Amino acid sequence: MERLLITGGRPLRGSVTICGAKNSALALLPAAILSESVVTLDNLPELSDIEVFVCILEELGTKIERIGDQMTIDSRNISLVSMNNELVQKLRASYYLMGALLGRFGEAIIGLPGGCNFEPRPIDQHIKGFEAMGAEVHYEHGAIHLRAKKLSGAKIYLDVASVGATINIMLAASRAKGVTLIENAAKEPEIIDVATLLNAMGAKIKGAGTETIRIEGVVEMHGCRHSIIPDRIQIGTYMIMAAATRGDVTVENVIPKHMEALTAKLQEMGVEVIEMDESIRVIGKDEYESIDVKALVYPGFATDLQSPMTTLLTQANGISVLTDNVYNARFKQVPELQKMGAKIRVEGRSAIIEGSNLRGAKVFATDLRAGAALVIAGLIATSGVTEIHGVEYIDRGYDGLVNNLRGLGAEIWRESE
Ligand code: EPZ
Repeated sequence: MERLLITGGRPLRGSVTICGAKNSALALLPAAILSESVVTLDNLPELSDIEVFVCILEELGTKIERIGDQMTIDSRNISLVSMNNELVQKLRASYYLMGALLGRFGEAIIGLPGGCNFEPRPIDQHIKGFEAMGAEVHYEHGAIHLRAKKLSGAKIYLDVASVGATINIMLAASRAKGVTLIENAAKEPEIIDVATLLNAMGAKIKGAGTETIRIEGVVEMHGCRHSIIPDRIQIGTYMIMAAATRGDVTVENVIPKHMEALTAKLQEMGVEVIEMDESIRVIGKDEYESIDVKALVYPGFATDLQSPMTTLLTQANGISVLTDNVYNARFKQVPELQKMGAKIRVEGRSAIIEGSNLRGAKVFATDLRAGAALVIAGLIATSGVTEIHGVEYIDRGYDGLVNNLRGLGAEIWRESE
């Protein structure tokens, strides 16, 4: 086990280049097995979740080669085997194997997904979609068994605009017989990225990024090459770090449109944000106004930036209210921030945040984004060293974090516990 140690109070200055999106890559990897040929992905991040997924796919018989940020995925000789549930339970995105294997083989046996467990995360909408397409689903020995004699297109209305369910249904529907309509679909950029890959492989998908997606199933899918969109959550986290440390940071490899909600909120607080074609510059100020933030589905403020934003709002004058309308209880970072002097209380789906001076302390990351919130708190603590345990959570979503922050002038290091 390892821990991060941070001496705060140093403004971040310089530029940082962000890689491909974790929440896109974790769907593109299983999507590639829908092809009986070779799929090449560029701009792949270096993350522990990606490594776990590669192991799972290799156990299916996929041949994977990684050179730098490029990965080739050869699924010509994959066969249906029961999953290594220990690996499957390491990440939530393993549930995409349900849609991919149903689409490829008409059958899947997957261990119940794991991942960040800040609250119960059901997959009822995924199952609803598969059953509508003719799959029979049952649970046995902690695994989900899905089988479809014939996967047929269907009209599916999602009760919740779920990112995972939208992508999972798209995967299965790509190879189903007939047309599938997903209504009340999620509109996140990662969904467009997956649809772009699938169409490059020969799928017939229209409307990704809107609330209605039409998928006409095809008999076979071929190889292609695809570059993953930038990671808007890593980008947003560095933007928040720049503002919180009163620094001046340019984040490179950005699609500014993906950052609109965060940019607007930072500017509302008094942060200077300058958008360029493929980068964003964030210049911090000494004084910030308190604001209210509502985390919503895209294009609203991203729930994955809710935890990092909680830390930034401790630096605003007055009282800010941050409400998460996507998850019921995603505030596990709050007790840890309180150990550092943060004046925050949680009421239902909202965190009420008062301006507070943070000091270093020993804290524990409980999930990926809560871990990011603690790193930001360590960077702005005006006294003492912050010791963050549970670094393995942070490694799941932030590649090269220590090197990137050192390059921006932070005093941060990693050591074994
Ligand atoms: C994806 O999770 C992301 N993970 C999450 O990022 C992100 O927080 C989330 O989308 C929302 O943007 C990956 O892409 C791997 P959802 P997902 O299905 O697909 C409820 C991170 O930090 N729901 O859109 O699991 C659910 O409980 C991670 O990178 C159902 O009720 O999220 C939640 O309240 C954390 N039934 C809401 O919908 C279902 O069948 C949104 O969940 C599915 C979801």
